[in-house]
Amino acid sequence: MEKYAILKDDTEVLFRPSISHDFEMVWELFSTLSEESLRFLPHPFIREEIKHMMTNINHEELLPIVAVVEESDSRRRIVAVATLGFQQGVARRHRAEFDIVVHDDYQGRGLGAMLTQHMIDLARERGLRKLYLKTSTQNLRAIQVYDNMGFRIEGRLVMEHYHHSRQEFGDDFRMALFL
Ligand SMILES: CC(C)(COP(=O)(O)OP(=O)(O)OC[C@H]1O[C@@H](n2cnc3c(N)ncnc32)[C@H](O)[C@@H]1OP(=O)(O)O)[C@@H](O)C(=O)NCCC(=O)NCCS
Repeated sequence: MEKYAILKDDTEVLFRPSISHDFEMVWELFSTLSEESLRFLPHPFIREEIKHMMTNINHEELLPIVAVVEESDSRRRIVAVATLGFQQGVARRHRAEFDIVVHDDYQGRGLGAMLTQHMIDLARERGLRKLYLKTSTQNLRAIQVYDNMGFRIEGRLVMEHYHHSRQEFGDDFRMALFL
């Protein structure tokens, strides 16, 4: 489940499963996202909730993968997180829900695409048949990444989420990739 990737600007990134000790680095990621990134995420993020989630991961239900870089001052930093959410039962265990966030400092360097590909590879290795996700219809960058990876729009979910900063509801696309 571990893999090294090289970004467009030659930065080396390690993809690996997250562990509970990653909490401070993951919190730093979520707590320093820009308004533009937060616009497309179900925040506000609460420190204690994320801590609880990270220390109580049920691996039957969730596979969280982090992207770790070593920055110039030798400081390790988590710059992206992606998850596969599994469901139980014979009618649902063929599919998983995909989610991803890349920190603003590392967006636009190919990391979103590479981490998405890694998650697709992991899903295939587990024998899954379908990956699906929800994204705001306004999240053109995310839609581009998913489309490049082969995800297709399955439908539009009207008033599916709430934009906290704008205090308004927005539509989502549901997208899916068949494996
Ligand atoms: C969406 C996200 C995961 C993408 O990751 P990333 O590392 O920035 O993406 P990449 O650098 O791999 O690729 C970006 C692609 O979007 C394209 N793009 C950038 N801005 C765009 C825009 N406004 N409209 C359309 N495409 C755009 C780029 O050209 C590139 O496509 P290409 O490889 O075909 O040239 C990341 O920006 C992010 O986490 N955003 C905030 C949170 C979020 O939206 N998460 C997803 C929730 S569904």
